Amino acid sequence: MPIIAPSVLSCDFANVQRDVEMINSSDADWFHIDVMDGVFVPNISFGFPVLKAINKHANKTLDCHLMIENPDQYVEEFAKCGADILTVHYEACTHLHRTIQLIKANGMKAGVALNPHTNVDVLKNVIEDLDLVLIMSVNPGFGGQKFIPNAIAKVKETKALIEGSSSNAIIEVDGGVNLDTGKQLVDAGADALVAGSFVFGSDSPSETITKLKGL
Ligand code: DX5
Ligand code: ZN
Repeated sequence: MPIIAPSVLSCDFANVQRDVEMINSSDADWFHIDVMDGVFVPNISFGFPVLKAINKHANKTLDCHLMIENPDQYVEEFAKCGADILTVHYEACTHLHRTIQLIKANGMKAGVALNPHTNVDVLKNVIEDLDLVLIMSVNPGFGGQKFIPNAIAKVKETKALIEGSSSNAIIEVDGGVNLDTGKQLVDAGADALVAGSFVFGSDSPSETITKLKGL
């Protein structure tokens, strides 16, 4: 069964506590937290005060996806705010190896995200240092976008890369996930699925999470 990580980006920000409690009592495994800086991506989401507020109520893993430039500058603060997994973008890190070590030195699991245009083989030299690879199946910045199908082939390539190494990294996919695309991703080897608008735009978010979990 896949790990299900509902994206808090699509929750009702006037009722964050209610939506956090819904995830707590659902079949979801993680909270997916999308942080955007308006520079790396053309959108701004939220930062530390909101993460702290979520952490106060959330009783599951906080899976933080940083869509920001200069992530090194903020790694320590994310650890203090309760992040369990910290994923940075390959495209935002000049010294990716150093950034990965910094995340681990701060007690968190380290992930690297790849934009739709970025080849999987750029991770060849760091795969054994990684806890998670995040394949973006949309261009990051917004919820509710259409799934880009090349993610399926990239999941297979990532799986081959991991299996050809001593890495235990988890493969997570983010963007446009629903029951149809989710099934294709799980069949291709995805371990974890992020879902935002499909969960929060449904009549029963909790039941939708259960359906994704059943894939
Ligand atoms: C996009 C974010 C996603 C987003 C997914 O930049 O990284 O996590 O919330 O939303 P959906 O599931 O609606 O595509
Ligand atoms: Zn995300």
